[in-house]
Amino acid sequence: MIPYCSICWDIDKVKLLDQRKLPREEIYLEITDYHDVIEAIRTLAIRGAPAIGVAAAMGAALGALALKTEDPKEFASQFTNLCREIAAARPTAVNLFWALDRMQALAQAHASEPVAKLKERLVAEAQVLLKEDEAINRRLAQAGQGLIHDGHRVLTHCNTGALATGAYGTALGVLRAAWEAGKRFSVWVDETRPLLQGARLTTWELGKIGIPYTLIPDGAAAALMQKGLVDLAIVGADRIAANGDTANKIGTYGVAVLAHFHGIPFYVAAPLSTFDFSIPDGGHIPVEERAGEEVTHFWGQAVAPADASALNLAFDVTPHDLISGIITEGGVAQPPYASSLKALRRVKS
Ligand code: MRU
Repeated sequence: MIPYCSICWDIDKVKLLDQRKLPREEIYLEITDYHDVIEAIRTLAIRGAPAIGVAAAMGAALGALALKTEDPKEFASQFTNLCREIAAARPTAVNLFWALDRMQALAQAHASEPVAKLKERLVAEAQVLLKEDEAINRRLAQAGQGLIHDGHRVLTHCNTGALATGAYGTALGVLRAAWEAGKRFSVWVDETRPLLQGARLTTWELGKIGIPYTLIPDGAAAALMQKGLVDLAIVGADRIAANGDTANKIGTYGVAVLAHFHGIPFYVAAPLSTFDFSIPDGGHIPVEERAGEEVTHFWGQAVAPADASALNLAFDVTPHDLISGIITEGGVAQPPYASSLKALRRVKS
């Protein structure tokens, strides 16, 4: 048992582990106002595409509970507005929009019911979404764990564990399932500048599972691959286009290019809720640009001259032809993605 959860619903509030404070402090935020959920997503108190989706759904449920009207039409219009506000929290992880679409679809399907009943349904749906996410991640992890072998030295980027999801994890879930199946291997953890999701969160999670790891600066991946010390790379995703192009944490594309150059398999692990079949390729993925202070400062301390300018693209897009396979709850999609993802699209809808 892993004694923490990224997010849960507690009677009439959302509880989430404040990931900005990890690993120094384990503090749960208790949120009753959906505006605070938006703030938590925006500031990365909760982060990782599937966890953002769950948070968005729970935020929508909190917002619905606070609406004062008893008129179903007025309720529908106010609910749509608050979902729009939540949708503006972050642009890249498609799970955010997927979860809100699902909440809105439910509201529309029961639009003629009394508002009190509809609120109950929305609160229940947000919790279903959380439960489903764990089940999906466990299926995905089982589908992918066969790729991990005894003695493997696996490289990962960013954080894709239970913290980044409703529970269990995606890429880290694959490693966890392999470990639970008795395989013994080790992990190179990219620190993941600038917010150090690897150094702060992935190390913390691997430590709790008991998987041996070594933290490395992002720039060290090339040298390790050159020395033959990496057998496989595995990462998560924030949005995957219909052709398999994958947006993930900045630095992922570099890892994929390096892996390709050195003949190392490079896998992406993501639930189908992270696929955006409405866009043909990665060129259509909106890439979040965050404040330069996240690069020039860390935990309130300046790490650059006061007048330094910085560019802070939060994600990059890895072209599908650098990806050896995409691990999902529907199985591992392999190239050519034009056909393998078409089959998965049928599983999703
Ligand atoms: O900015 P973040 O921390 O939300 O970025 C997270 C990532 O890029 C993860 O790799 C991705 O969301 C997959 S999480 C299972």
